Amino acid sequence: MAHQWQGVLREYADRLDVTEATPIVTLGEGGTPLIPAPALSRRTGADVYVKFEGMNPTGSFKDRGMTMAISKAIEHGAKAVICASTGNTSASAAAYAAHAGIQAVVLVPEGKIALGKLSQAIAHNAELLQVQGTFDDCLDIARELSANYPVHLVNSVNNDRIEGQKTAAFEVVEVLGDAPDFQFIPVGNAGNYTAYTRGYTEELERGITTKLPRMFGFQAAGSAPIVLGHPVKDPETVASAIRIGNPASWELALAARDATNGYFGAIDDESILDAHRILSAEVGIFVEPASAISVAGLLERSEAGVIPAGSKVVLTVTGHGLKDPQWALRVAGGGEVTPTVVPVDTAQIAGVLGLSPSGAA
Ligand code: F0G
Repeated sequence: MAHQWQGVLREYADRLDVTEATPIVTLGEGGTPLIPAPALSRRTGADVYVKFEGMNPTGSFKDRGMTMAISKAIEHGAKAVICASTGNTSASAAAYAAHAGIQAVVLVPEGKIALGKLSQAIAHNAELLQVQGTFDDCLDIARELSANYPVHLVNSVNNDRIEGQKTAAFEVVEVLGDAPDFQFIPVGNAGNYTAYTRGYTEELERGITTKLPRMFGFQAAGSAPIVLGHPVKDPETVASAIRIGNPASWELALAARDATNGYFGAIDDESILDAHRILSAEVGIFVEPASAISVAGLLERSEAGVIPAGSKVVLTVTGHGLKDPQWALRVAGGGEVTPTVVPVDTAQIAGVLGLSPSGAA
């Protein structure tokens, strides 16, 4: 029988706080591909790989943390979980809660999350409320509710989430045989930046790797509190997943940056969408805009001369393109792609395609 990947709690049981008493709630998350990206290697002179986290069961990296957070919540007797979300956390919480047979409550900023993600949370039967405020307002309220009511918080301020998410770094090391020189990653609350740093640090401490990667995190320019050094009250960006003005793991992220000789940068929306087009058209990987910022960050840092030739570079792309697909139809500089309509006529279609007959058969 073919080997079936068991999900991150079983695959990494020795590296996580999982015991006989932990009911394992899994949808088979983790084990995502690390894909060589020759087109990006050619553009930068580095040796570039893409960790495609859109291949998780609900289409984002959140599933790695959610299997842990929901399993531990149930171990602790929780009957309901709550989260604030820009969309992916709520999709994941809803799916894992549904699988476990408990209730998920999700708070999202009104009108600010992608349709695919909204649909996921609804489909998985979450109690979804659109709050007339930002993600940061939603997180404040979720924290207050979990402190005063019987609802267990599954945002990344819950350490179980970070623990589950660190397994992505283990997988990268297994494939490459060592840590990469650079790890590029999108940053919203900076929970995943923190989780990768923890995963790589544990591998170094176990003697599996010889170094820590330099952790390079990127925020959207209209939503870049860590880069600016102060909270942003009304964050704005096409990368709705990382439209966050006051990151929950800010302090941890600064410590992680300092420990890894890392970096935080900001990328404007047009450069994010350019990178989205490059990743789709030249590498064959479809992601949501927030994820494309890893690619944009690499191109920008490469241009700045910071990435030595031959460096091993891992770009984590965090969410699937099908969650928020309409950006693919946008043309650089504005306007929309409208596919050409043709009649049911082979010769005319050949003409439109500019094909000439290949000669007598
Ligand atoms: N990429 C995607 C696709 C995300 O959904 C998020 C966060 C991030 C990157 C940033 O990760 O917050 O750990 O720095 N999404 C959260 C959510 C906020 O609610 O889905 P982070």
